Amino acid sequence: MKIFVYNYREEDEKNFFADYCNELDVECIFYSGYPSLENVHLAKGCDAISIIVCDMNAAMLEKFHEIGIKYISTRSIGYDHIDLQKAKELGMNVCNVTYPENSVANYTIMMILMACRKIKHIIDRNIVQDFSLDGKMGKEISKCTVGIIGTGKIGKSVIKKLSVFGCKILANSEYVDSEVQEYATYVDLETLIKNSDIISLHAPLNEDTYHIIDEEKINKMKDEVIIVNTARGGLIDTNALINGIESEKIGSVALDVIEDEHGLYYHNFTSKILKYRALSILKSFPNVVITPHTAYYTDEAVMNMVRNSIKACYLCHHGMKNEFKIV
Ligand code: COI
Repeated sequence: MKIFVYNYREEDEKNFFADYCNELDVECIFYSGYPSLENVHLAKGCDAISIIVCDMNAAMLEKFHEIGIKYISTRSIGYDHIDLQKAKELGMNVCNVTYPENSVANYTIMMILMACRKIKHIIDRNIVQDFSLDGKMGKEISKCTVGIIGTGKIGKSVIKKLSVFGCKILANSEYVDSEVQEYATYVDLETLIKNSDIISLHAPLNEDTYHIIDEEKINKMKDEVIIVNTARGGLIDTNALINGIESEKIGSVALDVIEDEHGLYYHNFTSKILKYRALSILKSFPNVVITPHTAYYTDEAVMNMVRNSIKACYLCHHGMKNEFKIV
């Protein structure tokens, strides 16, 4: 079978693709750019495409379907960027991948601590040799109540890791997990919002969770609340977040994701005019840490993403039992 691989990165994915293509006798064609209506034709003759997080809307799916693509595999856990309804209508299979939750969970703990300990300000001041203590006093995490929204694999892992700090943990999720209950107390969203010193988001992005953090919720939060998002940008209404920071209701923010980030990450925009005002505003605040969707990015995760993406296509193609198949 033949897979057209979009957003291929030679520097870190090459060896993994080579190994697994060889192992499964799959042929891959590599392309470093994002998929677009203008380059769909490049995948003609392939059975599947492998993508990362990009805008895979109805028009794109129709085009890929027209040229004979039957399977779409995203080298990500999240699949909110793919119009699943359309894929279903067209009879195309969509698969995601799995990789160990430690990558994102460990990074989240780092982001929580960075926000608690005002590390952005401390590092910024160090650069100009301001070694005063002005504005650098942190919050003791052990004394905080941490609210975790979403207790799937990553949220659960964050909760377990947080438990060693001795903080009180509240959780809110569509499904109750009995293991989570050993470390955290499930509460309704309103209670979590009102009582948490730190709120960390781990829910998938869908119609129910879009802008789950909006102006109304921010107003109900504790003063100087810390908000951390390593899940999906669309969970937070960015304008409401900026207003909350400007009004000093919000104490600190750590974001690995931002709304409408497609096309932004992972490009090098050095010396370019960045046409993304929200990001520029957020980056200007001393109490906001921003990273470019790198929470997942470890050697182990990349290996799993590549391997499982090829495997998912292979299983679809051979009509075999497929743990990665979404539709
Ligand atoms: C995911 O796996 O869902 C991610 O967010 C990482 C992706 C950008 C590669």
